[in-house]
Amino acid sequence: MGDTRELYLDLMKRVLINTIYRDAAIQEFDYGDGEEVEHRLVGRDWPSVAHTMIGLKRLDNLQQCVETALREGVPGDLIETGVWRGGASIFMRAVVRAHGDTDRTVWVADSFQGMPEVAEDGYPADRAMELHKYNDVLAVSLDTVKHNFERYGLLDDQVRFLPGWFADTLPDAPVERLAVMRLDGDLFESTTVALESLYPKLSPGGFAIIDDYVIPACAEAVHSYRDAHGVSEPIVDIDGTAAYWRKTA
Ligand SMILES: C[S@@+](CC[C@H](N)C(=O)[O-])C[C@H]1O[C@@H](n2cnc3c(N)ncnc32)[C@H](O)[C@@H]1O
Repeated sequence: MGDTRELYLDLMKRVLINTIYRDAAIQEFDYGDGEEVEHRLVGRDWPSVAHTMIGLKRLDNLQQCVETALREGVPGDLIETGVWRGGASIFMRAVVRAHGDTDRTVWVADSFQGMPEVAEDGYPADRAMELHKYNDVLAVSLDTVKHNFERYGLLDDQVRFLPGWFADTLPDAPVERLAVMRLDGDLFESTTVALESLYPKLSPGGFAIIDDYVIPACAEAVHSYRDAHGVSEPIVDIDGTAAYWRKTA
């Protein structure tokens, strides 16, 4: 069974990033680090077809975090804030299912209409990025994401959706406890509201994954939250873009 499970999850990752049939990039990202990287392995493009943009290394990290939480019995559900086409959330459901867990919910939080337009009095670095200008690519409807879960046979009552702007949905979300929180909302404001609403619900031994740690506005949100709340667990790099830490207490 161990081997079969590993094979299933390995194939899921290859399909989710679509290194099987391969699709063109809509946009590619070069961090100017001079590194020759295979973009789909480290999530440095926006795929035209694949269901996630996070790349293989971040899916490997997500698998490790979820499997460690399951193995060690860290209490709580799993959440992704910022899901786009749903691929990383679909993968969390696949890992939970592959391990035969019937208790944990995968929470799927997104506007399902793309990035917010940052108000004039919003955080200046968020405003400067103007990410809402990419909503022709970044806005994916709730129906499409549900349909994507269905395509993998993974839409069931262990998946729950939180549609709307994070500021409206996350503070009072009916989530009791979390074992893994994966934040992928890019902006200072999106990261801050997710940390403030959800980090207190993260169990000791749980994982906080920050997909956009490479973006200065996102890193600043992380550091100001950590400083304000005395969070000192070491931040671990995943692939030069994303990072995570494990909550100790
Ligand atoms: C980079 S994409 C997420 C990529 C995704 N995790 C994947 O696996 O490919 C960012 C997502 O965050 C959502 N988002 C960002 N800020 C948000 C906010 N304040 N409220 C709701 N959704 C937000 C956008 O709609 C978009 O779907």
